Amino acid sequence: MNIVLIGFMCSGKSKVGRLLAQRLGRPHYDTDELISRKTNMSVADLIRTQGEQAFRDHESEAVREVSSLQNAVISTGGGAPLREENMQTLSKSGYVVWLKVSPEVILKRAGNLASRPLIDPDHPLDSIRRRLAEREQAYAAAAYSVDTDAMNPHDVAEKVLSTLPKGF
Ligand code: S3P
Repeated sequence: MNIVLIGFMCSGKSKVGRLLAQRLGRPHYDTDELISRKTNMSVADLIRTQGEQAFRDHESEAVREVSSLQNAVISTGGGAPLREENMQTLSKSGYVVWLKVSPEVILKRAGNLASRPLIDPDHPLDSIRRRLAEREQAYAAAAYSVDTDAMNPHDVAEKVLSTLPKGF
């Protein structure tokens, strides 16, 4: 079984995923990294030049690839759960954990918005709130959730480790 991290941008999926993988001695895969490597482009550039839907197709392919692995830690892009097929595939492949984060904390953690083409730089908080609201139901299909607002990635990783079902 894999451990799969989902959640909005800046919820800590990549950092927590790396920490979990280190602690468990398992390989770590990040769908955004796989897409970048395959397309030779940053995800932000891919979205800007080919559009969000083309990126989502690459993302679904990356989700299928990582879901066929076993005993890996998988960090997904924030929008991966938008496609129901992705959530179904991920849920079948492992224990899915939603790293929750509030819009205000997302904005604080986001820093330079130039690398985040899906956040409107003129109305960042509104656009974060809108996208989060669109996704909340999909994220809620996770087996477990952690509120990360007041936690650092180490604490989040420890929390996830402490809740892993038997056999992990
Ligand atoms: C996206 C989140 C990004 C990346 C892409 C789209 C989203 O990943 O996949 O820019 O739709 O929320 P992170 O969640 O790792 O920032």
